[in-house]
Amino acid sequence: MRHLLTTETLDRAAIESLLDSADEFLDVLHRPIPKVPALRGKTVATLFFEPSTRTRMSFEKAAKALSADTMSFSPSTSSLKKGESLKDTVLTIHAMGVDCMVVRHEATGAAWRVAEWVDVPVINGGDGAHQHPTQALLDCLTIRQRFGGLDGLRIAIVGDVRHSRVARSDVFAMATLGAEITLIAPPTLLPLDTTGWPVGTSCNLDDVLTEFDVVYLLRVQAERGGASVFPSNAEYRERFGMTRERMSRLKPDTVVLHPGPMIRGIEIDAAVADDPRCLVLGQVTNGVAVRMSALYHLMGGVPVE
Ligand code: NCD
Repeated sequence: MRHLLTTETLDRAAIESLLDSADEFLDVLHRPIPKVPALRGKTVATLFFEPSTRTRMSFEKAAKALSADTMSFSPSTSSLKKGESLKDTVLTIHAMGVDCMVVRHEATGAAWRVAEWVDVPVINGGDGAHQHPTQALLDCLTIRQRFGGLDGLRIAIVGDVRHSRVARSDVFAMATLGAEITLIAPPTLLPLDTTGWPVGTSCNLDDVLTEFDVVYLLRVQAERGGASVFPSNAEYRERFGMTRERMSRLKPDTVVLHPGPMIRGIEIDAAVADDPRCLVLGQVTNGVAVRMSALYHLMGGVPVE
């Protein structure tokens, strides 16, 4: 594996090997000194052209836990404001000497373009509504921890699937690990075409609610037009929100996941977000370990003791 751009081309062995190393890195993160010298002397650059709290900080923490140096680029205070292009920005940062680039951009395919311009590994930290592979890996790790594996699990992905790079990455990774996936959304928020996707679909959450082991909630992506295709937030919550009442109807061992940022009161009620069966903070912790694993695999880290 030279880059990590999409989950569509990852086979089961590749995903399992990334998750197995993530498990080892979770142990490292629980040591009194949560750091190993695996990437000493290397530099990871994070180039986030779209807002991020979790993904960016998690990559920084992951790189530092592997003893790599980090550099981060912020579009609002950069020469992009003076008109510099994406390509010149990337080549400039690359010329400073970096060993890996993590890229988030609103344009589909941006990370692939970057990978053509540079000779270091590129990790896609989210490209438009297209892919977000490390999110899918951390979601799979979280589910595997809880259930021992994904084979035969029934997973619902609920919400703005149409505009979700998280859903696109999760569907392929989870199906490759053997899960059975149902996308649940109003028709206007389902993808226009799911040909080739290993999924079923439903437009009625209440009809199918009790069938799942995992309910994965998505934020409505207002910035990509998601909020303009249903009447109001209240109506969305009424039909597709994970309310306390819906939570009480799930099977007792069903868990709720969310990639964050959560919008309490729309796709998830505050009581659900704070319930122990909502694994959102565990997902965040796992995210650091998964990103350590991705950096380690791509950058040729020295073996960890
Ligand atoms: C998501 C993203 O930016 O794709 N968040 C994340 O990375 N954890 C999902 C979202 O913004 O709703």
